[in-house]
This record gives sequence, structure tokens and C-alpha cells, in this order.
Amino acid sequence: MIRSVVRGSGSALPKRCVSNEELAQTVDTSDEWIVERSGIRQRYVAGEGETTSSLAIDAAKAACADAGVDPTTIDLIVLATATPDNTFPATATKVQDALGCNGGIAFDVAAVCSGFLYALATADSMLRTGMARRALVIGAETFSRILDWEDRTTCVLFGDGAGAVLLEAQDSDEAGPGVITSRLHADGAQHDLLYVDGGPSTTQTVGHVRMKGREVFRHAVVNLAEVLGEVLEESGLSIDDVDWVVPHQANARILDATARKLGIPAERVVVTVDRHANTSAASVPLALDVARKDGRIKSGDLVMLEAMGGGFTWGASLIRM
Ligand code: UT7
Repeated sequence: MIRSVVRGSGSALPKRCVSNEELAQTVDTSDEWIVERSGIRQRYVAGEGETTSSLAIDAAKAACADAGVDPTTIDLIVLATATPDNTFPATATKVQDALGCNGGIAFDVAAVCSGFLYALATADSMLRTGMARRALVIGAETFSRILDWEDRTTCVLFGDGAGAVLLEAQDSDEAGPGVITSRLHADGAQHDLLYVDGGPSTTQTVGHVRMKGREVFRHAVVNLAEVLGEVLEESGLSIDDVDWVVPHQANARILDATARKLGIPAERVVVTVDRHANTSAASVPLALDVARKDGRIKSGDLVMLEAMGGGFTWGASLIRM
């Protein structure tokens, strides 16, 4: 069978790291509140010259280098973002040009915090059906640019960054490497719990993030536990077979509650929310790259990715590394 095999990963962060204490100098908040309610200790914030595309390009180049793959041989780029450089064209096309692989397929996916899961499932389908052979799946955000820095209920929670995974269509078998299965969901009825109050067709402005945090939290734990169960059932595997869970990094308490609900030991959950905060579509590939590079996630490991975000959208993927 043809499977989409992970050949490499890469990530990129802005230069400037902002601690909770630094934030508390300009916003009515405290390190104690942020750590206790979210587990976040710091976040990276893009400065002048740093954009979603510049972070995505750095992450993509790092993934190619990690895989030992010539970037000009990439024939598919799927980039998940809610903070594109421009309304159009897709930020993916800027990445394509920077890598010098012009002529292949390049487009953006908008599913906010679940964007990487949507992008991965899309790229996997295209690789398995022969539309492309080598794909970069990227999650990249400069969420700092759509935050209302006077709204303490949102601005302390998010950060900027990018992560990329290089997938290649390869012959594999049931027990072999590659993306095993993915499940995606959306529920448009929950629009008002997490959205941006602007856009080209409504206000002709970019808008700011608005969130009813407590309600999002409640839905997140239920939806994530459900979709993880679906992916396991479909693959005929059990939670005990999973070596690592790489979740969307929104809140340490969501990670704990979901793990408890599913009976996953905390030691098998990759947590980076303390250092990156919530980087939306970038959070899963950033965390995956951290755990691959520090040696936790190894070849042959069974890895579960999951995310939930605005829309609502949510999803999970099971991958043999
Ligand atoms: O990535 C997409 C998915 N997003 C998420 O998954 C986010 C989900 N939600 C959450 O992570 C949590 O709900 C938050 C971290 C956003 C908030 O935690 P919470 O325990 O649900 O707090 P809360 O919203 O119920 O607020 C508790 C109190 C409020 O004060 P009152 O009304 O009790 O007097 C807030 O005004 O904390 C206050 N508060 C703050 N205080 C200090 C809210 N933000 C802050 C702040 N600093 N930054």
C-alpha cells in the first residue's frame, strides 16, 4: 500500500520571547494567574520583518534539511494558517517560491487551531492518490497580529511560530511507517465561541480574536476524547499501543483532562504550551518537532496528533513514525 511517510520535521520561532512577567507590565494580569489557569510561562512574538511566511519558510527549510531532501523536489505544499501574509495569494505560494519548487501544488488551509490536522489529512489523501509525491505540511502563525492587546482574557494565551513536516509517498504495509488514519470534524453552530471580529468581506479589516474561554474548554475535552476514540477504533489499535500523544497546545489543563479521560499517562503526552503558548495551527508541528529532535519520538513509534479550534473544528491523526 502507498502511505505518506514522515521523512523529516522542522520548526521556527520569532527572536523575541515574552515572559508572563513582561506581559503583566502592560496588561492587568499576573504570572501566577496565567500559569495556574493555562500552564503558559512564555510565548514568542514576531517582530519587524518576521511574518507568517518567513517563519513558515524557515520551518520548511529545516524540515527539508532534517529529511535530507532537496527543497526543489517538493511538489505539494499545504500550509495551515489563520494569519496569512495577505488575504491572497496563499502564503503557501510564498513558501514555494522561497524553496524554488515553483510549478507544483501550493495552497493554504483555514481551520485555525485544527489547521495542521486538516492540512495533514488533505496532503495524505493527495499523496495516496498519486497527485504528488513529496509534500510539506506546514502550520504557521503570527497570532500576535490579530490579538486585542487590551483583552487580558485572550492576549496572554497565544504566541507565534511555525512547524513543518515533510511527507513522502512510499510503499508501506499495515505495520509499516506512515499516516495510518485521520478523522476531521467541524460544527459551525459554535462560531461565536471562538472567532475573529473582522475580515475582508464583512468589515474590510483584519479583526481581533474573541473567545468564550470557559465554554471552549468544556467542548475541547469532550470533542478531543471522542475523536481520539474514533481514530483508535478505525485503526484497530488501543490507547496502550500509542507511544506519544502530540496534542494542540492550548492549555495544560485541557491536556491533563483529555489524557485523564482516555487513560493516557502524562509521561506519554508531549507538552510545549509552557514555552510556546497557543500557536494555533503551528502548535502540533512545533511540539512534534521538539519531541523528535530531543529524541523522545523515534522511528517506529506510534504517534497520535490531535487538535481543536475555532469553527469549531477538530481532528486527530495516527502516524507510525
Ligand atoms: O486553541 C483553541 C482552543 N482554545 C482553548 O482551548 C482555550 C480554552 N479555554 C481556556 O484555556 C481557559 O478557559 C482560559 C485559560 C481561557 C481561562 O481559564 P478559566 O479558568 O476558564 O478562567 P475564566 O475565563 O473562568 O476566568 C476566571 C477569572 C475571571 O474573573 P471573574 O469573572 O471570576 O471575576 C476573569 O475575568 O479570571 C479573570 N481573568 C484573568 N485574570 C487575570 C481572565 N483572564 C485573566 C488574566 N489575568 N489574563
